[in-house]
Amino acid sequence: MAPLPSLPIGVFDSGVGGLTVLDAIAQRLPSEDLLYLGDTARVPYGTRSPLTVRRYASRVASHLWGQGIKALVIACNTATAHALDDLIEAGDRVGLPVLGVIEPGVAVAAAQTRSGHVGVIGTEGTIRAGRYQAALEARGLTATGLPCPLFVPLAEEGWTEGEVAALVAERYLAPLRGGPDTLILGCTHFPLLRGVVAAALPGVEVIDSAHAAADAVAAMLDAQGLLRDPSSAPGQHRFQVTDNLERFHVVGERFLQRDPGPVQLVDLPEPAGPFLSTRSG
Ligand code: DGL
Repeated sequence: MAPLPSLPIGVFDSGVGGLTVLDAIAQRLPSEDLLYLGDTARVPYGTRSPLTVRRYASRVASHLWGQGIKALVIACNTATAHALDDLIEAGDRVGLPVLGVIEPGVAVAAAQTRSGHVGVIGTEGTIRAGRYQAALEARGLTATGLPCPLFVPLAEEGWTEGEVAALVAERYLAPLRGGPDTLILGCTHFPLLRGVVAAALPGVEVIDSAHAAADAVAAMLDAQGLLRDPSSAPGQHRFQVTDNLERFHVVGERFLQRDPGPVQLVDLPEPAGPFLSTRSG
């Protein structure tokens, strides 16, 4: 059955990082209802195997789809890197459009770079998966991927500026000096560290894919006749987590720069129906 324009857009991440994408979607599409799921019981995804991340992502997608959504946004680079194909396939079976955050960021970087050399930083899983590098190379660009896993806990702790964050950024990013002229923040946690990243790589254009992803969501909904009338009332934002409500409130406020309001604790059953992955390995 085709989804209705009145349904919310489902957005998910392993935890709080995807709130940077939710915020960009809320700015771009203020009359849309948004339903956010932070899989805080299973965070981090970035250090787990591709198969495990695909299982987790299928569970979350199945849960959100079961609540009635008109589109699914994978607001996590690691989940996009490993599970986008599975989720697009499952979404196709039920007429649910699915969008990840990698392609939108790559498109912006490709338009910005002058030298044709683009760097991407992300979790170990995202960089090892090579999806960013492949998408950049498919556009004739040179790609350099670099994992920066410590940025995730720094962002979660709110240590996004000051000497510790600056030292970590210096250390991680030194290999990129004199290399790419454009750098994609390939993790939804990283926009909070934009300042220290930019300071460690003077002259490099830093790309945050959240706004590019929000534009892609708007274009996708528009193409499918699923956009709400922009003159309708401001959209409602609902938040769900799989563990630790209190922590989501504290850290989520830092990411959203506002109180997320009521947050619901949910348990995710094994995926059923279209989201039961048939792939292995
Ligand atoms: N926010 C996730 C991403 O964009 C990373 C956090 C995690 O490791 O779960 O990849």
